[in-house]
Amino acid sequence: MKKTDLVFQSYGRCCRNDAFFIDFYDYFMSSSEVIKNRFIDTDMAAQRHLLRNGIMQLILHARGMSDRKLRALCESHNRNHYDIKPEWYELWLSSLLKTVRKHDPDHTQALESAWVEVLTPGIQLIKGAY
Ligand code: HEM
Repeated sequence: MKKTDLVFQSYGRCCRNDAFFIDFYDYFMSSSEVIKNRFIDTDMAAQRHLLRNGIMQLILHARGMSDRKLRALCESHNRNHYDIKPEWYELWLSSLLKTVRKHDPDHTQALESAWVEVLTPGIQLIKGAY
């Protein structure tokens, strides 16, 4: 099976439980005080919901779908808007991998490598638009 399909299915298993998004932001915000401060005024329930779609956009990008929606994230995260520093995406990705490890019952090391491979081009696009 293609890596994008493996990741798509893994994400489906993760999304069955809303705690996936709660755990993700817990890990991500505890990874650095700077990250935590960025979400100080954020409605986290809404944010978790938006992220559900954001991760899907990264997967769809790897599957060759139009990146119109990803372009919107490039815009909102750049230096003129949320001002998200490129180096913070490593923390984002490692928090996500940790959350997948916890929530996907079929997790393997190979699946984790597939997640990295599949998400990297989309993440690079957003980082590159900084
Ligand atoms: C908002 C996705 C990385 C901080 C959002 C939204 C989405 C999203 C879907 C809501 C839509 C929008 O406002 O544009 C993603 C994805 C990421 C990523 C897919 C990784 C590729 C990061 C990183 C940070 C960050 C590394 C660092 C702190 C924020 C903030 C908001 C936001 C502060 C606005 C929250 C608010 O409305 O108060 N992100 N994000 N994001 N993201 Fe990200």
